Amino acid sequence: MQAVAEDEHEFNFTAADFARVRRLLHDHSGISLAESKRSMVYNRLARRLRSRGVRHFAQYLDVVERDGAEHEACMNALTTNLTSFFREPHHFEIMAEYVRARQLPRLRIWCAAASTGEEPYSIAMTMVEAYNSDSPPVEIIASDIDTDVLAHAQRGVYALDRLSTVSERRRARFFQRGDGPNAGFARVRPLLRTMIDYRKINLQSDAWALPDALDIVICRNVLIYFQPPLQQRIVRRFATVLGPDGMLITGHSENITTAGDIFVALGQTTYKPRGEARRLSTSRS
Ligand SMILES: C[S@@+](CC[C@H](N)C(=O)[O-])C[C@H]1O[C@@H](n2cnc3c(N)ncnc32)[C@H](O)[C@@H]1O
Repeated sequence: MQAVAEDEHEFNFTAADFARVRRLLHDHSGISLAESKRSMVYNRLARRLRSRGVRHFAQYLDVVERDGAEHEACMNALTTNLTSFFREPHHFEIMAEYVRARQLPRLRIWCAAASTGEEPYSIAMTMVEAYNSDSPPVEIIASDIDTDVLAHAQRGVYALDRLSTVSERRRARFFQRGDGPNAGFARVRPLLRTMIDYRKINLQSDAWALPDALDIVICRNVLIYFQPPLQQRIVRRFATVLGPDGMLITGHSENITTAGDIFVALGQTTYKPRGEARRLSTSRS
């Protein structure tokens, strides 16, 4: 969605307010907002202040600190949810190859910062094709900290221009175009929606409600928002939820070399828990 610049004089927003927002967001999610993000914060929260009828950020933040629903709305407004279908397409080819090489009778994938759903639906399309089945034995757990994007993902309805990176063949197979009041939108068909279990999971928290021994963890374009010690802690925990033949996929700018004692890089920001790495890297070369 295009951000509309706000008139920065409408609400009183001091340096202390900005520091408070940064602290609240960091405590909640681990996201470290740079000093340069002051205008972004103003723009993202102005609508919340308007809806609460307050003129000062300080007053609004008091509400946020005592009202759980407003806290959630505030945190949701502050997350960056940029995503697209088949973003970094090589990762989907690698996942398809992982499936074809193993033909596992059951596969579990965790998509750990799923945003509005384009990423888990791209995984689901990849799995249908890789297993050559409309009901592949695949469970996808798609999670995010932001409850608004999770609701969007669950609805599975997208403006047609969001589908520009989906081939015509896939659009016809996996999406239903709306008409009448739904013209200009397409809905993901149930075949994909039933493969995905949406959950709210905070990567910073110590309690991840997940099944054991996942086959693939895909966590892209979120670690960059965290400080290195938190990135490290999360990456190390990924090793504990993956099975021995599992694979971790991160975003293109998220190099996890500091966890080299646990993961071996396979190239293109894909990783294998140590011990099993050689077999997969050989089969892919
Ligand atoms: C830029 S989007 C990336 C979406 C997708 N993975 C992709 O690469 O296209 C980052 C997502 O991470 C989520 N996020 C931020 N902090 C998080 C946390 N502590 N736990 C879980 N998700 C978080 C945001 O809500 C947002 O939807």
